[in-house]
Amino acid sequence: MKFFIDTAELRDIKDLAATGMVDGVTTNPSLIAKSGRNFLDVIAEICEVVAGPVSAEVTATDFETMLVEGRKLAKIADNVAVKVPLTWPGLKACKALSDDGIMVNVTLCFSPAQALLAAKAGATFISPFVGRLDDIATDGMELISEIRQIYDNYDALKTEILVASVRHPRHVIDAAKMGADVATLPPSVLRALASHPLTDRGLEAFLADWAKTGQSVL
Ligand code: G3P
Repeated sequence: MKFFIDTAELRDIKDLAATGMVDGVTTNPSLIAKSGRNFLDVIAEICEVVAGPVSAEVTATDFETMLVEGRKLAKIADNVAVKVPLTWPGLKACKALSDDGIMVNVTLCFSPAQALLAAKAGATFISPFVGRLDDIATDGMELISEIRQIYDNYDALKTEILVASVRHPRHVIDAAKMGADVATLPPSVLRALASHPLTDRGLEAFLADWAKTGQSVL
């Protein structure tokens, strides 16, 4: 399973990339706004740090402008994945950009029907938003299970399931159990994956006992 990180903060990206756990990065207009930085500059810098796919989202809503924006974003680096919304113009742009050999991430997916359309449009990634479904009392992970089942029924559907709007480690574990290809994690969730109170307590006890021996490995 691949881990992407869902942020436009270079400091977090560099810090987590050094752990070897980061296979790609996703951004969206809200994350770019939060960074306070120039969109094109940030994407270029992220692409230098991470070799895997870096999602950069179009902001137009009509097909023609999406295509122009998508082609411009794709020129920033070979590892840019152009993100388009799950609308009819977005699906059309997905098909056109994919036909050009550009990676496309179709975002804002909230139903299995939408995911099926994105795969037929040649999407490299489909981004179902699990946390936002949970927020409205709908089981977000059930959507992942349904998409997995649909994609597995057809060899021709090559789209990778990229679980987005991840809020906590349980989402990551459930996504892995369902065979999702990728999860994009806020930096805090990726960091939380390594945490366990029994690990902390166990290490504390080992170090206290070790200190009593008066020995040193070095
Ligand atoms: O990048 C898309 C997605 O991960 C956003 O998550 O937390 O804003 O619902 P969230």
